[in-house]
Amino acid sequence: MPSYIDSILKESRVLYPHEEFSRNSHVKSMKEYSKIYKKSIENPEAFWAEKADELEWFKKWNSVLRNDHGFFKWFEGGELNASDNCLDRHVKSGNANKKAIIWEQESGKNRIYTYGQLLKEVCRFANVLKKKNVKRGDVVQIYLPMIPELPIAMLACARIGAIHSVVFAGFSSDALKDRIQDSSAVMIITADGSYRNGKVVSLKDNADNALKECPTVKNAIIVKRTGISINFVGGRDCWWDELMKEKEISDLCEPEKMHSEESLFILYTSGTTGKPKGILHTQAGYLLFASQTFRYIFDINNDDIYFCTADIGWITGHSYIVYGPLSNCATVVMYEGAPTYPSPDRFWRIIEKHEVTIFYTAPTAIRALAKEGNEWPNKCNLSSLRLLGTVGEPINPEAWMWYYETIGKKKCPVVDTWWQTETGGILISPLPGATPLKPGSATKPFFGIAADVLREDGSKANLNEGGYLVIKNPWPGMLRTVWNNPDRYKKTYFEKFGVYLTGDTAHIDEDGYFWIMGRSDDVIKVAGHRIGSAEVESSLVSHRAVAEAAIVPFPHEIKGQAIYAFVTLKKGFDKNDLLKEELRSHVSKTLGPIAKPDKIQFADDLPKTRSGKIMRRILKAIAEGSAEYGNITTLVDPNVVKILAENREK
Ligand code: WTA
Repeated sequence: MPSYIDSILKESRVLYPHEEFSRNSHVKSMKEYSKIYKKSIENPEAFWAEKADELEWFKKWNSVLRNDHGFFKWFEGGELNASDNCLDRHVKSGNANKKAIIWEQESGKNRIYTYGQLLKEVCRFANVLKKKNVKRGDVVQIYLPMIPELPIAMLACARIGAIHSVVFAGFSSDALKDRIQDSSAVMIITADGSYRNGKVVSLKDNADNALKECPTVKNAIIVKRTGISINFVGGRDCWWDELMKEKEISDLCEPEKMHSEESLFILYTSGTTGKPKGILHTQAGYLLFASQTFRYIFDINNDDIYFCTADIGWITGHSYIVYGPLSNCATVVMYEGAPTYPSPDRFWRIIEKHEVTIFYTAPTAIRALAKEGNEWPNKCNLSSLRLLGTVGEPINPEAWMWYYETIGKKKCPVVDTWWQTETGGILISPLPGATPLKPGSATKPFFGIAADVLREDGSKANLNEGGYLVIKNPWPGMLRTVWNNPDRYKKTYFEKFGVYLTGDTAHIDEDGYFWIMGRSDDVIKVAGHRIGSAEVESSLVSHRAVAEAAIVPFPHEIKGQAIYAFVTLKKGFDKNDLLKEELRSHVSKTLGPIAKPDKIQFADDLPKTRSGKIMRRILKAIAEGSAEYGNITTLVDPNVVKILAENREK
């Protein structure tokens, strides 16, 4: 398979927006984009203040932006509520009967919530939280599958000023425990189980295991989704339905007046060092940024039906299933299950059934579904589609073209949106009515975003020269800190260049287009999921047979990247396939199935420098089957490299 970098270097196609699309879109030409962009960069405060006026405020702000010793504050002095902006505002303006969420169950049934109904559910659950003694500023842990109770719980937290911390339901109990211990959550909201590929997966057991070591959690609320039997802990556990049915629980709940910079949510993500970090987003800036990017990049109109396939457990679901779409009064399709259940046309069937106009998914899904053959999408009526989007990892031009031609029938622009958990919303993306598209490029920065590519010494890279992708100015949706760890915030993001370091490498071409090349740190994007090498390594080392482990990515046809593990064993353990299988399931149990190594190579020794540092660069080359190791003379024993290469897992 040609690597992504090889294929983008050869890419020269340009596709222009169709006239009719441009005519009806929010930004109609590059000229218009450039004019607004220039204004937004020259005077960002005026630009964002004008946009912020479109939200509903209880009290206007005093200052738009302030730099408090490297911690950025937006709209200080202002008061608003995210749930009020996502719900009450639309109900008051006559949209009570507009569909907010169309929930497609794995079984094929659906349930629809209008804005009026969603508001009622959110208010009721907000009152349940209050009754359970959750206070403004408390952290509430949410560990739910893709069911409506998930956005309802998030918005109920936002309504009373509690901070939600959602953990992806595919994570294991250990991963959940680490996150709860870091956030000191007072409550957990979970479900008995979830549906995946027609099977029932237990969630409550994971939650119970995690809670054994989480003394801060006093209450658990459990959604009955599958009806499987669970271990019910008296005095701690309550059923969601029973609490919601109680007579004293009212349909009304006044939204708290939240200060702009109070915390809205924590979302854990992986970085270079061991433990995942809690990325903190606050009220006003995050909501404004999610809202504006959603409106312009997805070019949303009143009658659009928008379907995002991400899980709400990741940032894409937070910003582009919940806060972005709902703050724009859009109709969102959320899907409970697996993309290929019961057959590989599930997404295309959902598009046909709900007449989806905008579809947003990940390159991994595109590659996997393309491989299933064109007969699946061709059997479905996809004529409602007008815009396609992708996120989470670089998209190779071949997959891009398949998406454009086979799903979009060459009439739908494809927005390749680049962003991160930390950025809160999309930073680099085409605007579909304006930007000429180049397959594989995320194209141009959004309004107010000063993106650039720098060399190691901090100077600006030349055109087409790869380097560190940085953002040179603050923007409203940026993370405010790392929960419990302000030093890590400063070190990770600002120490190297003094401006926001993304952790990605990129180059800019002669048209000013950005081409994202991949991570510059030890984060691996497996099927779009963000996984820290260090987390997988500590999981492996926690197995009784393992002495040392080193994790590197290798290119994978469907997943983009996959995990390659080099493992040295303790004395007395046999190198065999059974043990490899055991190690894989150990990682799956301690971290989650998405972090399972695809390949494991047993090694007697790893390439180390005299100071004991493992040279991952060399291991990466070996995993890729390349002989370009770079300099190996600094190794304690350069022979190790040859032995490892000879025994490479193919
Ligand atoms: C990668 C996901 C290329 C990138 C929203 C980034 C992308 C990391 C793209 C963040 C894209 C995301 N093209 N790479 N369009 N979008 N990435 O925090 O490496 O899960 O740093 O947020 O995904 O992953 P995260």
